[in-house]
Amino acid sequence: MTFEVEHRAAGSAARAGRFTTDHGTVETPVFMPVGTAASVKGVFHRDLAEAGARIILANTYHLYLRPGMEVIEAAGGVHRFCTWDKPMLTDSGGFQVFSLAQCRKLTEEGCRFSSHIDGSRHLFTPENVIDTQRTIGADIMMAFDECPPGDSPRDYAAKSLLLTQRWLERCFERYAATAPKYGHRQSLFPIVQGCTYPDLRAGAAEFVQQFGADGYAIGGLAVGEPAPVMYEMIEIVNGILPQDKPRYLMGVGTPVNILEAIDRGVDMFDCVMPTRNGRNGMLFTSEGIINIRNQKWREDFSPIDPMGHCFADTLYSKAYLRHLAVSGEMLAAQIASLHNIAFYMWLVDEARRRIADGTFAEWKRGMVVKLTRRL
Ligand code: GUN
Repeated sequence: MTFEVEHRAAGSAARAGRFTTDHGTVETPVFMPVGTAASVKGVFHRDLAEAGARIILANTYHLYLRPGMEVIEAAGGVHRFCTWDKPMLTDSGGFQVFSLAQCRKLTEEGCRFSSHIDGSRHLFTPENVIDTQRTIGADIMMAFDECPPGDSPRDYAAKSLLLTQRWLERCFERYAATAPKYGHRQSLFPIVQGCTYPDLRAGAAEFVQQFGADGYAIGGLAVGEPAPVMYEMIEIVNGILPQDKPRYLMGVGTPVNILEAIDRGVDMFDCVMPTRNGRNGMLFTSEGIINIRNQKWREDFSPIDPMGHCFADTLYSKAYLRHLAVSGEMLAAQIASLHNIAFYMWLVDEARRRIADGTFAEWKRGMVVKLTRRL
């Protein structure tokens, strides 16, 4: 995988670049819609691509449990299985094991857990998580990490970080000892942990560089800490990570979080927010946030979003979408998910244009005010 920075914003750490995988080139900053089970919930690939999605994410934890690696391997890898021929990234399962699985037991070896689907017992280790991601075949694989709770005391955070670092060494050993299965290359990104402790974060950002990876991720944020603390951690880590590799902030976030992180030099994002909040009737727009279930839209026949970036925004009215949402119609979730993804795509693309033309800082200042308004 190659990466080049094409533009840097004046008075900000924001940058616009591009990375190239064997499934194509991705312009950054980029937002990656989350397709947990190799499906971005409720959105056809055709519409995702039309909305500007250029890379999607899938989860090792979910695909390992269901349909299982035999099916993915027999299909010829995840790209062929789900028919997405552009770049893909898999999270390692580190985060999902801690947020979804039950009866977890963490040891030096790895993490034993019970499936949230049927209670069956499993063991994830750094080695078998790399093997599983080889079988899934995404262009970018993530290291197996522990994501400790946001309010972890310092001694726990420090102990957990050391475990994540030993696991990282084992991940890279397995990565070097194994080959891709489907003829395209796979990168492995380390994940910087360290909770909200500046010295742990700084040490973690130094540590990961020995692997000479194609890109680096920042994990363990947006897990309950205040947003200014998250921004401070991003600044510390990005001040240390190499300038010439992409930086991926995992699981973040709101449109404002994304702009603030771009401002601090982050290139890649993923989050369930556009789809999950969309399914609950929350629409993000460039003028503010809409709760489409609200009574106030009952007879509002104006377009869902006149400035919107997907076909549904101007095809359907707010009143119609509200009706679908309060009636529990599937189409409501589909429209809202597509709208929100198209909005997130517009947001990062506009950030990219603004970085390139030198107006990012000024544009961002205006946008963060608008984006938090409730319409
Ligand atoms: N997704 C959001 N945060 C994290 C994290 O800290 N680790 C992993 N593996 N995935 C994440």
